[in-house]
Amino acid sequence: RQSLRDLAQRHGLHIGTAVDTKALADPADPRYRELAGSEFSTVTAENEMKWESLEPTRGSYDWGPADQLVAFAAAHHQRVRGHVLVWHNQLPTWLTDGVVDGSIGTAELRAILRDHVTAVVTHFRGRIWQWDVVNEAVSDPWDTPATLHYKGFWAEHLGPGYIADAFRWARAADPKALLFYNDYNIEAFGSGDPANDKTQFVYEMARDLRARGVPIDGIGSQGHLGTQYVNYDTFGVSAALKRFAGLGLATAFTEVDVRSQLTEGVRAGDSAEINPRLQASAANFGVLLRACLSSPHCLSFTLWGFTDRHSWVPGWFSDPPEGLATVYDENYRPKLAYQELKAEL
Ligand code: XIL
Repeated sequence: RQSLRDLAQRHGLHIGTAVDTKALADPADPRYRELAGSEFSTVTAENEMKWESLEPTRGSYDWGPADQLVAFAAAHHQRVRGHVLVWHNQLPTWLTDGVVDGSIGTAELRAILRDHVTAVVTHFRGRIWQWDVVNEAVSDPWDTPATLHYKGFWAEHLGPGYIADAFRWARAADPKALLFYNDYNIEAFGSGDPANDKTQFVYEMARDLRARGVPIDGIGSQGHLGTQYVNYDTFGVSAALKRFAGLGLATAFTEVDVRSQLTEGVRAGDSAEINPRLQASAANFGVLLRACLSSPHCLSFTLWGFTDRHSWVPGWFSDPPEGLATVYDENYRPKLAYQELKAEL
C-alpha cells in the first residue's frame, strides 16, 4: 500500500499536513503520529510558530513545541513549511494591548516586528523550506469598506509598507528559505467585478513587489473550501496558478480542507451513499490537486489537518455547525476524499 507521499513524489510534488502538536504527543492517540509521519512529506505547525505561541511574554521566546515538530519532521525526512511570521491573528496580548493603550508607538511597533521576523527566521535557519512571511493581508468583498484593501492590525498601524519590509527582513535572516505570501479566497479568479476580485488584487500586489525587487518567492493559496460555497473548476484554479507563475513565483496549496454544514442530518461516519456532501468534498479536493499537478511551479499541497478527529473546523464554524473537512474520519478511516487524492496521484 503506497502512501500519499510516495505517490506524490513521482510527480515531484510534496504533500503535507498541518500538525496539531498536542495530538502528536498524545500516547493515547498513536495513529495520529503514525499517519502524520508516513503519509506526508512536509508538515506545518498548526499553531506553534504563531507569535502568541512563540513569544507569550515580551522578550522571552518559547521554542520548545515548534522545535519538537521540526525534529519530528527531520526524523521522518519531511520538509517544514514555516507558518507564520506576520499575521493579524494570534498575536500576544502584550503586543496588541500595548498598541491599544498607547505604550507602544509606531516606530517601536515597526522595530518589534523587525526583531520578531529576524529572531524567528534566524532560530529556524536552514530548517524551513517555505516561510509564510505575510498571511491574510487583504480584505474580502464582504468586509467594510467593500472595496478590497489591505486590512488588519499591521496595515492599520504601520501601513501596507510592512509587507515589503517583512519579506526583506526574512530574506536577510535566511537567504535560502522560500518566502511566501499566503491567503484564502485566491484559489481562482472570480467571475464578478474584476476590480474587486481578491485573486486579482493579490496578483497585482505580487507583481508590484516583484517589480520593486522585494524578495518574494511564492504565493500560498490556502484552499479552505466548502461543499456549498464554491464550485471551482480545475481550469479556473490552474489559470490562477499559471498567472502567479508568470510573475516568476512558485505556488503552493497550503491549508486545504473542505468543510460541510452538519445540518440536514449530515453526520460523521455517514457513507458516501447516504451523504452526497462526501462526494462534493472529494471532488473539491480533486480540483485543487489536479490544478497543482498540472502546474510545474506548484511545489506542495498541504492539508489543514488530515483527520476529522483533529480539525479546526468544528471549533471555528459553529453557526451553522460545520465539519467533516478532512480526508480521514474521526476513527482514521480514509474517506472518499482520500481515495480521490490517491486517484489523482
Ligand atoms: C487556525 C488553527 O487551525 C486553529 O487551531 C486556531 O485556533 C486558529 O487558526 N488560516 C490560517 C491558519 O492561516 O493559521 C488558521 O489556523 C486557519 C485559517
